[in-house]
Amino acid sequence: MSTPKTPFAPAEPGIAAGSAPGAPGTAPDTGDALADAFAAEYSVRPIPAPGPVDTTPIAGTPAALDSLDALWKAVVHETRTRGNDIHLPISLAFAERLCRAYPDADADLVRVATLLHDTGWAHVDESRILSEGFTGDWRKATIRYEHEKQGCDVARRVLPGLGYAPGFVEQVCAIIDGHDTRPVARSLEDALMRDADRLWRFDHAGIALASSWFGMDPATYTDRLAAEIIPELITGAALEMATADLARSNALLKTAVIR
Ligand SMILES: [Fe+2]
Ligand SMILES: [Fe+2]
Repeated sequence: MSTPKTPFAPAEPGIAAGSAPGAPGTAPDTGDALADAFAAEYSVRPIPAPGPVDTTPIAGTPAALDSLDALWKAVVHETRTRGNDIHLPISLAFAERLCRAYPDADADLVRVATLLHDTGWAHVDESRILSEGFTGDWRKATIRYEHEKQGCDVARRVLPGLGYAPGFVEQVCAIIDGHDTRPVARSLEDALMRDADRLWRFDHAGIALASSWFGMDPATYTDRLAAEIIPELITGAALEMATADLARSNALLKTAVIR
């Protein structure tokens, strides 16, 4: 199923009705008022998908909205850092898929926030990206906070000239700011951006790129995806997509043998 806001490229076989795998749980009290309100509204975790969940390879449904082409053009410079020209388009394709699974979400907000969320990496000290951003307690690294702030600056610089309203721009920034460093989502749109940001890693292109950032071989990296990233997924749709992609990627890369 698609909505006028979330068209998609050619229908693929294997698009199934949404379901929520795994045992439902209750989101914890976070001490963050917005996050707690979101957790109360969506108390069943992972959040069940009311719309269709597509678990086919993401290459079959690239991001379809050419309405974002002007925004892509505005941030070409920012895509040339830290693999953003691979990470961001794949994440956007997953974001559009997730918006079809969660039609109540503001799809424009999810798409724009996903497209822009890591553009700030282009405006931090590049020599520190791998040395600080992908080692140790990397989610708390100073450079992680810096890339979020810089990403908000990019959004405030490029979006108004493309006709986006000031209120929308600030909604985008509210999602970008904290997308890595804040442990909890504050809205459905925030949650979908976060899941899209993780889902790209399960595709073989994401494994190829991101395993090198962490200095890991593919088998070690896919083990880490299963142990650390799968449990972080917020929505049932993302969990289904990640599980299917991980199985495909492990088979393709023969990670059971090459280790
Ligand atoms: Fe990020
Ligand atoms: Fe990202």
